[in-house]
Amino acid sequence: MPGKDVGEQEEYRGVLVRKRAEELTPREIVAELDKHVVGQDAAKKAVAIALRNRWRRRRLDPLLRDEVAPKNIMMIGPTGVGKTEIARRLATLSGAPFLKVEASRYTEVGYHGRDVESMVRDLVKVAISQAQTRARAEVEAKASEAVEERLLDLLLPRPSAFKEAGDGAPHSSARDKLRRRLRRGELESHEIEMEVAVQPEGIAGLFGSVGGEELGLEMQEALGRMMPKRTKRRRVTVAEARRMVLAEEQDKLIDQDAIVREALDAAQNLGIIFIDEIDKIVSSGREHGPDVSREGVQRDMLPIVEGTSVSTRYGVVKTDHILFVAAGAFHQHKPSDLLPELQGRFPIRVELNDLNEEDFARILTVPQNALTKQYVALIETEGVKLEFAPDAVRAIARAAARANRASQNIGARRLHTVMEKLLEDVSFDAPERKGETIVIDEAFVNKKLEPLLRDEDLMRYIL
Ligand SMILES: Nc1ncnc2c1ncn2[C@@H]1O[C@H](COP(=O)(O)OP(=O)(O)OP(=O)(O)O)[C@@H](O)[C@H]1O
Ligand SMILES: [Mg+2]
Repeated sequence: MPGKDVGEQEEYRGVLVRKRAEELTPREIVAELDKHVVGQDAAKKAVAIALRNRWRRRRLDPLLRDEVAPKNIMMIGPTGVGKTEIARRLATLSGAPFLKVEASRYTEVGYHGRDVESMVRDLVKVAISQAQTRARAEVEAKASEAVEERLLDLLLPRPSAFKEAGDGAPHSSARDKLRRRLRRGELESHEIEMEVAVQPEGIAGLFGSVGGEELGLEMQEALGRMMPKRTKRRRVTVAEARRMVLAEEQDKLIDQDAIVREALDAAQNLGIIFIDEIDKIVSSGREHGPDVSREGVQRDMLPIVEGTSVSTRYGVVKTDHILFVAAGAFHQHKPSDLLPELQGRFPIRVELNDLNEEDFARILTVPQNALTKQYVALIETEGVKLEFAPDAVRAIARAAARANRASQNIGARRLHTVMEKLLEDVSFDAPERKGETIVIDEAFVNKKLEPLLRDEDLMRYIL
């Protein structure tokens, strides 16, 4: 399970970032966002202030603290200009439980689908897993000691009491030898047999289809907890065993009630819910069709945004101090088409700008995960050095802007299709060009993209 390992490491890193993030000033938050998102200063500023306000509120006298409601934010801007990207980056850098949802995925209570309250339950789940990760990191060193002993037991079972009565010395010296090898990492791929917890079977099949996705999942979880834990003997490598045993030992050292208390507190006071695609729940005024329940979703959303109590598996959560950030392109509808009450719950409006050629050139090169850097790294795995000349970057940006003007404006997303087209041959041939350096210059870009840009039909389909 190498994939899972990476995820866990990221979470651990997340925890480290998180501890520092709570102290970040608005200017520092914007500087962090600048590493990934080009421009959109107004939006960055607004979210940075909102985040800092949580920190400020925590420092108030309790009486006043309850009075300070978060100022929810509405981000308005065309597609592909960084709304979701800002939210995503904010999530990774903020210490707060953060949930991103799509408004269009919810349905009015009573209709088939997810009800709006489930976003609060999901936020709590995020908070629980954050608290758990934090707690696990804290006890990791201590748990690791116990893990070592248990791994040694598995590698070299202790002699039974009656044999030990004779002489324990050979055993303990063998154990010491193994311990040294274990610490040197020599036994990682060595296989051992151990009891592994297995998911009770059959529950998913029996109940999975009852009441749709939501109920099915909750039900499965609940039943899963009721069923006795089953284990199975399996051969695993020492590395795998360590991971499983570590989780068990960590959980033994963690006070689960404290985790729940911490998580509920964090969700209520620091939680951020990012509601994307809010414009998709504007009702078009028609009485039938797929949007009859849209206004219902807005109405269901009102109390949650204003402050209500939602019961979750872990306890009741008050939503009064959760920060809501809504975002939408508002192509067909305006924010004023939302229910008036809902508009009022998002007092801070920030507009994100259309991106121009200049922005595209920076997006291509500046962010830590900039597209050109991604392609250079990908091609490098083939032993080929890829370089982008500055004039080539400009030419790519120009082509993307032109394509956006001529067909639909899809913002920075255009860069993905343009780059993919531009580099398709390089990508295809790379394995045969090991050791070469390929320089992408303006001439290369023009040669590849010009024919597409000249032919409107081609452009619509390909770029
Ligand atoms: N200002 C920006 N700086 C850097 N990258 C950007 C910027 N704007 C958009 N991108 C990139 O373009 C892609 C789409 O951006 P994003 O998902 O933020 O769009 P959006 O504004 O949420 O659009 P939509 O309204 O369609 O959801 C992402 O890959 C993102 O990295
Ligand atoms: Mg988006």
